[in-house]
Amino acid sequence: MSAPDLVVFHAHITPCDDATTQMGAIGELRQIEDGAIVVRGGKITRIGETERVLSETTLGPETQLLDAGGRALIPGFVDPHTHALHAGRRIPEMQLRQDGRGYLEILQAGGGIQETVRATEAAEDAAIVRATRQRIAQAVAYGTTAVEVKTGYGLTAARETRLLRLLALVRKRAPIAIARTFLGLHAWPMGTSDRAAHLQEMNALLADVAQKELADAVDVFCEEGVFSVEDARAHLEAARAVSLAIRLHADELRPSGGAELAAELGARSADHLLAATDEGLRAMAATGVISVNLPGTAFFLHERPLQAARQREAGVRAALATDQNPGSSPTFSMPMALALAMHTAGFRPAEALLAATRNAAAAVGMEEHRGQLAEGFAADFLLLDDSDYRVLFYAFGMNPVSQVFAGGRQLAQDGNATEEMRQWIDS
Ligand code: NIG
Ligand code: FE
Repeated sequence: MSAPDLVVFHAHITPCDDATTQMGAIGELRQIEDGAIVVRGGKITRIGETERVLSETTLGPETQLLDAGGRALIPGFVDPHTHALHAGRRIPEMQLRQDGRGYLEILQAGGGIQETVRATEAAEDAAIVRATRQRIAQAVAYGTTAVEVKTGYGLTAARETRLLRLLALVRKRAPIAIARTFLGLHAWPMGTSDRAAHLQEMNALLADVAQKELADAVDVFCEEGVFSVEDARAHLEAARAVSLAIRLHADELRPSGGAELAAELGARSADHLLAATDEGLRAMAATGVISVNLPGTAFFLHERPLQAARQREAGVRAALATDQNPGSSPTFSMPMALALAMHTAGFRPAEALLAATRNAAAAVGMEEHRGQLAEGFAADFLLLDDSDYRVLFYAFGMNPVSQVFAGGRQLAQDGNATEEMRQWIDS
């Protein structure tokens, strides 16, 4: 075997490899107190005790050696739910909500998502691509090494097709894995008179999306006053028919049967679920639908997050994401999502860490290659600024991620993008 590219040693490793991934059955995660990992060709080829690994590995002249000095080493975060592809911010809307206007009320009045649709339509292609890459680079500096990005600020077939094209440009030569989700049904286009015709057009678009491999999954904002369970069912059935994975923004603000629909259709995930019923959660557990927790959104919308205890009781597998978007969760920080999951939703640190890595990878179909540290998996990992990974929950609002590696290459150091990352933003 050729010499390794990189060996990291004297690290306190939490591989997230052997613990059960169901909530409720998680004990403490396996730890390697003084561990090492060996990287070749972007993958982990060995992981174990430092002494053993070093004595059994033949280093080459080019092998980079990194002494972690006892710091915590964990899998890179997989952020399985973002709306990073857009232009503009919505700071005044935040203030409107504080002064009593509802999120859906603002949307119905032509603001909210519609405002971002207008800003995105007005922006140049290159500006959107660059802004999206910048957001991804910031996420990486906070430890994200794989991310899902949705379309959804187009709403019409023509504008959504443009966003799919821009998403392909964003992904070109990307230093981290980017999963693509088509969210054409994110809101009704302004002034839609014939809703049935619009749905038909959007459903018909899916065959093209699949055939040209423009997205991996399809999502719908299923919510009272937005898309009904019937609208969502028809669209997701059309997606399934062309072999696209399906997901759902479900029961975000009001219970509308979204969790049950996700279970019925065998969706990969149902996301948000702030207003999901226990029956809905149990139905999801029974069919293996992952619940994607977005505690940053609950925090920012002043709502109570989905509690870990309810998911434990239902036996549903939980993932964690930022929901990065300009209206309901402008953060791209996975450490912030982790801290909120513990302190506002009752996740145990071990549960939250699995939710942000292994279970998150499953929510975007990357479980076979990412989300845990094991031989054959991508060398996507983080060094924290403490030996105890729980610093992530302790130093809330801060960035305890000191070094970020994806595919064995360093992309950030102490919150700053490396040259490689900066070049990608500008390329
Ligand atoms: O996940 N709920 C729908 N979509 C996003 C918010 C989009 C926006 O407000 O721009 C969400 O919360
Ligand atoms: Fe969302």
